[in-house]
Amino acid sequence: MISTRVIATAGCVPEQVVTNDDLSKIVDTTDEWITQRTGIKERHISSGENTSALVIRVAEKLLERAGVEAEKIDLIIVASVTQDYGTPSLACMIQKEIGAVNAVAFDVIAACSGFMFALSTADKYIKAGGYKNAIVIGGETLSKIVDWTDRSTCVLFGDGAGGAYVEASDEAGIIRENIGSAGAQYEILTEGYTECANAFNENKGGVHPLWYVNMNGREVFKFATKKVIKSLEKVMAEENLTQEDIKYFVPHQANVRIVEVVSKKLDIPFEKFYMNMDRFGNTSSASIPMALNEINEKGLLERGNLVMLSGFGGGMTWGTMLIRW
Ligand code: UT7
Repeated sequence: MISTRVIATAGCVPEQVVTNDDLSKIVDTTDEWITQRTGIKERHISSGENTSALVIRVAEKLLERAGVEAEKIDLIIVASVTQDYGTPSLACMIQKEIGAVNAVAFDVIAACSGFMFALSTADKYIKAGGYKNAIVIGGETLSKIVDWTDRSTCVLFGDGAGGAYVEASDEAGIIRENIGSAGAQYEILTEGYTECANAFNENKGGVHPLWYVNMNGREVFKFATKKVIKSLEKVMAEENLTQEDIKYFVPHQANVRIVEVVSKKLDIPFEKFYMNMDRFGNTSSASIPMALNEINEKGLLERGNLVMLSGFGGGMTWGTMLIRW
């Protein structure tokens, strides 16, 4: 049976680092509050590079690391909520830049679960046959859709991109997934609203207040803990696994307290959750592939290890994936 294996990973962030102390100079906040409530100490914020610049760099690294020529790429899927344009997709911009002339390229939107949805889509294309490989990337410049006067949201996010090159294989790769959507709750986390203003109505257009990230933090917290716990439990049960079989859990890097709740509830040692939100903040769709790439770059995974990725986000959406390395 054909499986989809992760062959290479890559990540990239803009150079500029913004610390909690830097933020305390522009909004009424403190390093103590941000650290205690979120675990975040600093994040990378773009000095002007748009999302395309970050995802293109990740795609270039993936080609180099996988040792694959661009013309051989069958599929490019990017997850993002901060694309440069409405159209073209970021995936098409990557295609142009790397010269992947034979690829099918498109973007998906599932906010912070975006990478899980994109990887799941690539997996299905590959398993259906006809597509032998894919570049899958999550990338964001959330700094452009954050209200920098709103302390309740602007301290949480960062910019970055991460991704994986995956290939059809006879050996096990992506083993099982649990992804889902709860659209009924979409209002608890929104961004990027543009109203329908035109020459024949009264709407004014321009930047709408709901353009910026708008979130009911407590409700999102509740959603996240509930869905991630259920989703992890389901995937482990379906594969007859316990946490002991899993080398690393790679959660969406939103908030260390969410991870603490999941760890406690499922009795998974806290050290098994790989975390880097202290250095990057919440990078939405980029957070899971950036963390996975760090694990990979540090050589913490051996062939055959089991890794569990799990994210949640706007939509509302969630996604968990069990991968054999
Ligand atoms: O990818 C999905 C992204 N979203 C999430 O993962 C969000 C999940 N939710 C959370 O992580 C938490 O709800 C937050 C970190 C966003 C907030 O933590 P909280 O413990 O739920 O705090 P809160 O919103 O209830 O606010 C507590 C207090 C409020 O003051 P009062 O009303 O008690 O006087 C806020 O005004 O903290 C205040 N506050 C701040 N104070 C200093 C809110 N933001 C800040 C800030 N600095 N940056």
